[in-house]
Amino acid sequence: MELIYLDNAATTPIFPDVIDAMHQTMKEHFGNPSSVHAAGRSAKAKVESARKYIAGQLGTLPKEIIFTSGGTEGDNTVLQCAVHHLGIKHIISSPIEHHAVLHPLEHLEAQGFITLHMVKVLSNGLPDMSDLERLLSDIPANKLVSLMHINNEVGTVLDIEEVGNLCRKYEALFHSDTVQSIGHFPMRLGELPIDFAVAAAHKFHGPKGVGFLYVRKQTGLGALLLGGAQERGMRAGTEPVHNIVGMEMALRLCYETMEADTDKLKALKTYCIEKLQNALPGTAFNGACSDLNSSTHTIVNARLPMNEKKAQLLAFHLDLQGICCSKGSACQSGSESGSHVLNVLLTPEENIRPSLRISFSPENTKAEIEKLVDILEAYVNS
Ligand SMILES: Cc1ncc(COP(=O)(O)O)c(C=O)c1O
Repeated sequence: MELIYLDNAATTPIFPDVIDAMHQTMKEHFGNPSSVHAAGRSAKAKVESARKYIAGQLGTLPKEIIFTSGGTEGDNTVLQCAVHHLGIKHIISSPIEHHAVLHPLEHLEAQGFITLHMVKVLSNGLPDMSDLERLLSDIPANKLVSLMHINNEVGTVLDIEEVGNLCRKYEALFHSDTVQSIGHFPMRLGELPIDFAVAAAHKFHGPKGVGFLYVRKQTGLGALLLGGAQERGMRAGTEPVHNIVGMEMALRLCYETMEADTDKLKALKTYCIEKLQNALPGTAFNGACSDLNSSTHTIVNARLPMNEKKAQLLAFHLDLQGICCSKGSACQSGSESGSHVLNVLLTPEENIRPSLRISFSPENTKAEIEKLVDILEAYVNS
């Protein structure tokens, strides 16, 4: 059976050219980038040219890009090091962040290092800006705001410039989890009022286990992982040269076709919403995901009209039919308590109905959306 892959917010298929570039790097640049001989120098050159390319695209300095193992490590590095190295005592965040942010924050709070302040979240998935300003003005000093750019479950897009300017006004550091936006939006991190941002290559058709962290140069953040002097002492451990080259290639390919891909995905998302509304009247859309001005073109999160018994077997049924998409979020599969994001955004009555996260890549087609909607329609009416 041919799979229909509609779970691109969980991970994306790796581009064939990325695999080729990684393969070639493994064969030809196997040296340790810290070695001073020719094999080491050729590996080091690959790492540094990837850093230069990424920095160029994001409008940052090369030294502000630190290679990591992905989004979770990036978020942990910022949050834990801001507390342990920069004296941060108060962190303002939201209950709909990814667990890569929420769990380190809960840990830091439980250990008595910080006071955690949760900003109110509106039903569209955006923070209440007046509540954020109130929190920022009430806390006198040593504060950091951590709010994600694009929510990985409902796709709401935060105005990071507006939040960053507010942080500047109240002298707070600003970290944004940009895992769902880098590679999909033309981000110019260096030109934004933002101190720390995080990317994961597997969200933009690159390999798993690699990503990068943007650390604005004046912040003085130190390392989470201690050991060798790699990454200018900001992240110890031998650099995975093939992964870094694969990530660079994936980003290059994304930037090459970003404008056309965005148009294609906007049309595909609109088509998906219309098809669901027509085939399954009563379908609702979580957060602001039916509004392309406030949400990413890559995610639809639909609440489907279906009784409880069918809802329970929905994920299983779709899987049997070869459809790959998520119940709320991939991170929630197997969780009895459901999505922590939808638990915040929806009333208990709304949340009884099953929600499906459908997330696209430019490789998806209208025919795949039609097949998904046909399967859902037949299931609801069976
Ligand atoms: C918004 C967000 N942050 C962080 C992560 C974690 O990234 P990684 O899987 O690279 O550790 C994810 C992955 O699902 C994500 O969607």
